[in-house]
Amino acid sequence: MGLTPLHTAVVPMSKSSEFKALPSALRECLTEVAAIRREFVQPADIVLECTPMFSRLMGGLTGLLEDHHLCGSDEHYARNLVYASPDEATSLFCMVWGPGQWTPVHDHGSWGVVGVVKGALHERNYIRTDSRERDDSGIVLIRGGVSVLAAGSVTSFVPNPDHIHRAGVPRGWGETVTLHLYGRNMRGYNIYDMELGRRTEEAVAQDNP
Ligand SMILES: [Fe+2]
Repeated sequence: MGLTPLHTAVVPMSKSSEFKALPSALRECLTEVAAIRREFVQPADIVLECTPMFSRLMGGLTGLLEDHHLCGSDEHYARNLVYASPDEATSLFCMVWGPGQWTPVHDHGSWGVVGVVKGALHERNYIRTDSRERDDSGIVLIRGGVSVLAAGSVTSFVPNPDHIHRAGVPRGWGETVTLHLYGRNMRGYNIYDMELGRRTEEAVAQDNP
């Protein structure tokens, strides 16, 4: 399946991370996320509160995302930073997926909420079956369920046990745009090598200027 060329040096934060420059609907969303985080500690509680709010946001996003949020690439799926909080506790990315573009198998080490703005995101899940759940080697993964998330769909996940998956768009499907909210600044994540039974933490790049 091969890793994408995204796993390169991280681009520094840019003006796209400035809160004041965001459309009001996104500012309201992030303000609500901050309030939820003040009230709740457990990742399952945070995604329970954030997921319906994110679902409402999906319905009103048309025209809100700007060109620098919607950069695509012929080479790989694009990760466009929308906002990263100064305390590194929250980040919001807009991702653009062309046909045939996939992530590697990975987990985020964080909770997350993902909404589909346009197209259809495919998710393939993996289940860790070895008993060394905290180790980075000796990992045995088996394939799990598959989801096809159409425009307007929202999904979420929590860590521990890790949510292991790969996401993308198969060839023959259309361009897809997704919005991703994470419980940390997602500068990198854990990538799994299924043949070697290992996982490594790798930096992931930001594509927008
Ligand atoms: Fe992911």
